[in-house]
Amino acid sequence: MSLPKRVVLVGPMGAGKSTIGRMLAKELGYRFLDSDRIIEERCGANIPWIFDVEGESGFRERETAMLKELSEEPGTVLATGGGAVMRSENHVLLKSDAMVVYLRASIDQQIERTRKDRNRPLLQNDNPEAVLRKLFALRDPIYTELADIVMHTDRKSPRLVVRQLVNRLNPKTPRHKRQRRKEGRSYAKGTS
Ligand code: S3P
Repeated sequence: MSLPKRVVLVGPMGAGKSTIGRMLAKELGYRFLDSDRIIEERCGANIPWIFDVEGESGFRERETAMLKELSEEPGTVLATGGGAVMRSENHVLLKSDAMVVYLRASIDQQIERTRKDRNRPLLQNDNPEAVLRKLFALRDPIYTELADIVMHTDRKSPRLVVRQLVNRLNPKTPRHKRQRRKEGRSYAKGTS
């Protein structure tokens, strides 16, 4: 398997898409792109402001336009927002020339990692846990369906997740072959 032109990270809020994406890009020698951050830069406003003024639908329009643009960038690792998979028109953009990686995290981990967050409008309410549960039920099957690789992130450091991902993406080099033998795992589509 040779390296894919693009690696696209999907998954829920708090899965570590940005942290892992940045580290993975460095490891692969790819450019790191963060869809939400680029939307904010272009708009000159943060995501809560966009949700406030334009509503979630306004944000989703911007997100689709951004994915369209970024789907044409080879040699990149793209971190997407958790809801990017909710529009079917985005699916072809996410999959285009890309290896899609689902960074899966349990609800408990999502809660833990988003506890103090003030930048995610969908969680600024009395019961963010219920929201995370509802979104997970809705989105987990879609992430899974879209993904070429499902990578579990619970109780793993970002560094470990990146190492496992690199092994999956480029298993031909001698170091990775050794690692592969050591782990005794299949590198075909599956889970880690
Ligand atoms: C959202 C996730 C956020 C951001 C927006 C909506 C979602 O991105 O795009 O707040 O619908 O799950 P992260 O997954 O990076 O937090």
